[in-house]
Amino acid sequence: MASEKAAYAALAGRHILLGITGSIAAYKAAMLCRLWRTAGAEVQVVMTPLAKQFITPLTMATLSKNPILVEFFNPENGAWNSHVSLGEWADCYVIAPATANTLAKMATGVADNLLLTTYLSARCPVVVAPAMDLDMYAHEATQQNLHTLARRGVRIVEPGTGELASGLSGKGRMAEPEEIAAFVNELLDGGRKTLAGKRLIVTAGATIEAIDPVRFISNHSSGKMGYAIAGELAARGAEVTLISGRTALPVPPGVKRVDVLSADEMYEATVGAFDTADGAVMCAAVADYTPENVSQTKIKKGDGEMYIRLRRTRDIAAELGARKGNRLLVGFALETDDEEAHAQSKLEKKNFDFIVLNSLRDAGAGFRGDTNKVTLIDRAGSEELPLMSKREVAARIVDRIEGLLTR
Ligand code: PMT
Repeated sequence: MASEKAAYAALAGRHILLGITGSIAAYKAAMLCRLWRTAGAEVQVVMTPLAKQFITPLTMATLSKNPILVEFFNPENGAWNSHVSLGEWADCYVIAPATANTLAKMATGVADNLLLTTYLSARCPVVVAPAMDLDMYAHEATQQNLHTLARRGVRIVEPGTGELASGLSGKGRMAEPEEIAAFVNELLDGGRKTLAGKRLIVTAGATIEAIDPVRFISNHSSGKMGYAIAGELAARGAEVTLISGRTALPVPPGVKRVDVLSADEMYEATVGAFDTADGAVMCAAVADYTPENVSQTKIKKGDGEMYIRLRRTRDIAAELGARKGNRLLVGFALETDDEEAHAQSKLEKKNFDFIVLNSLRDAGAGFRGDTNKVTLIDRAGSEELPLMSKREVAARIVDRIEGLLTR
């Protein structure tokens, strides 16, 4: 017991919501619940109606020391089981075992039982431990659903390989309770080092294109959004190189910053670092044009108009997109009109895995402020997030990156 406490130290005092679905592996949920209770966590259990056929509510209520929740309301006294408050109570929602049926419903937003409505309203990290027969697990539909969930930030504890309830042997056995408990422990550990060993590049801030020693062309980017992403990646254990335009922001802990000024300098630094990286997040607002000739002396005022001839800069993101292979590439799109269409076209042209759209038409979004309102778009669809702090937006973006890099 003492060793379990030490092994899962991050769980002491935490609130874990355990979702159980109708699978033979439900018996392992009893052991999982006991491990968490021993580690000092509070556990509440929500079961699908079918799960009761596999493990009794009495067993789970005894082990969790809490009543079991199955229905939307108690038929005896009409008391409402609020999925919203369950989702708010939990520090982590772990669905173990998760059947192919429940994973499909989660992926498509079906809300026909308490376990699923709780998933849809949960604000905490969600973990699933799939359990099913090998062919069901390998089926393209299940794999697509898992991919969709991972993309949305759901963590997946991969099933093991071995003898299955059907008598067949292969991949589909739910992970062992100790493995799931350790996964949740790491997730809830202050450091959340879920990206340890991953190398990521983040570009941030505005580039500066000199006209002469005094003047330049630039934009309003403060670097806040990119710095928040770099900080969140580093907090989760990633090795982060932040390629930054000029800004007064402090370097987030654990992040290596490379200072650049112009789009050309940012190009060289970013392309150079990409070879050894696992991915890049292109948050910088990079100049698309730069003066063709930079005057070495201050340009003097004349009587008439003056014109500056501009040349195109190199597109850093497009270059990384062309050479990305299986590395991850996340882009941004700052738009003022026809937002989704422009973002979709950049997603394709630059070969991003997903793109973060922010529009200057949304109050509190875009440059300089501490908030942003974004839509995450990939080839499967788009997810519109409400107005949040840039830190929260960064956490949501990194959830998605984590889902894609740790699958
Ligand atoms: O820094 P803040 O004040 O916090 O503001 C944050 C932000 C508004 C700058 C940020 O959220 C954002 O939207 N960044 C991208 C802005 C932008 O220039 O988007 P774009 O649509 O022009 O470029 C599309 C993508 O290509 C971006 O990922 C951009 O980094 C990249 N790009 C563009 C041109 C170029 N030459 N090289 C590039 O890599």
